[in-house]
Amino acid sequence: MTLAVTGATGHLGGLVIDHLLDRGTPAAEVVALVRDPAKASDLAARGVDVRGFDYDRPDPSALTGVDSMLLVSGTAVGQRLPQHTAVVDAAVEAGVGRLVYTSAPRADASINPVAPDHKATEEYLGASGLPHVILRNGWYHENFLADLDAAAHTGQVLTAAGDGRVASASRSDLAEAAAVVLAGEETGRTYTLTGDVAWSFEDLAGDFSAVLEREVTAVQVAPEEKSAALAGAGLDSGLIGFLVAVDDAIAAGELADRTGELAALIGHPTAPIAETLRSRA
Ligand SMILES: NC(=O)c1ccc[n+]([C@@H]2O[C@H](COP(=O)([O-])OP(=O)(O)OC[C@H]3O[C@@H](n4cnc5c(N)ncnc54)[C@H](OP(=O)(O)O)[C@@H]3O)[C@@H](O)[C@H]2O)c1
Repeated sequence: MTLAVTGATGHLGGLVIDHLLDRGTPAAEVVALVRDPAKASDLAARGVDVRGFDYDRPDPSALTGVDSMLLVSGTAVGQRLPQHTAVVDAAVEAGVGRLVYTSAPRADASINPVAPDHKATEEYLGASGLPHVILRNGWYHENFLADLDAAAHTGQVLTAAGDGRVASASRSDLAEAAAVVLAGEETGRTYTLTGDVAWSFEDLAGDFSAVLEREVTAVQVAPEEKSAALAGAGLDSGLIGFLVAVDDAIAAGELADRTGELAALIGHPTAPIAETLRSRA
């Protein structure tokens, strides 16, 4: 079985390869598909087959011999859908047997700003005829490290998400699940992968307090106040709009689902967010 992972020089893709190797897939059966092979010398040194692969012009010949591939969703806002559809087309042309795609929670019916690209990619994949599995990855614990850094200075965590909760998970747990699914044979399934715990922002402030060894409080603000605070911290307007829209989705309960599917796939409880926060401190 030859297993390919896109975005292998990124955080998630790199961890997927680590988990594949740790779980016993021989390095010679792992293909790292990377935008810039010069960044992948460590993967090559571990015996992984590194191949150039750009979502903007995906070459089907880079997928020769691949039985199963993981498409890690891209980062280019506004370009993701054409990139993803081009990758799916390349996989079909190359005769890849199966594709696993990293999507987002409730991608088909969500106010989360990331949802439309994921919904459209899921639909394109469904219409492609390519056997596939969708991994609707929950929010990363790591997304809250910037709030931890800010809280170290302000003693506050600002949220416009009201009483919304977040069942986030570590990138490593989500990557392990992707490795399990990629190395398996299942098709035609959509997983919603969440942490075991849905925490509130008061809970998060408590974790911040413990890690920072200073009192941190959660402060509920209106979206406009959060925007103003983020602008004051120097964030650009696109990112501010994104972060406030995510708070809206959290307030609506969209990131609070706890499905248990992640723990079941990886065979152990999901790591709590406090563990990720401690690793940063
Ligand atoms: N669930 C969540 O909370 C959450 C949070 C953030 C992002 N995401 C999504 O999950 C994905 C993986 O997250 P991550 O933390 O691993 O992000 P990341 O570290 O930024 O990795 C993204 C990877 O995509 C690759 N990539 C981007 N554009 C490409 C292109 N045109 N052609 C080929 N490769 C390209 C990057 O290549 P280079 O290494 O060359 O840059 C990188 O390896 C993200 O891309 C995003 O879609 C989810």
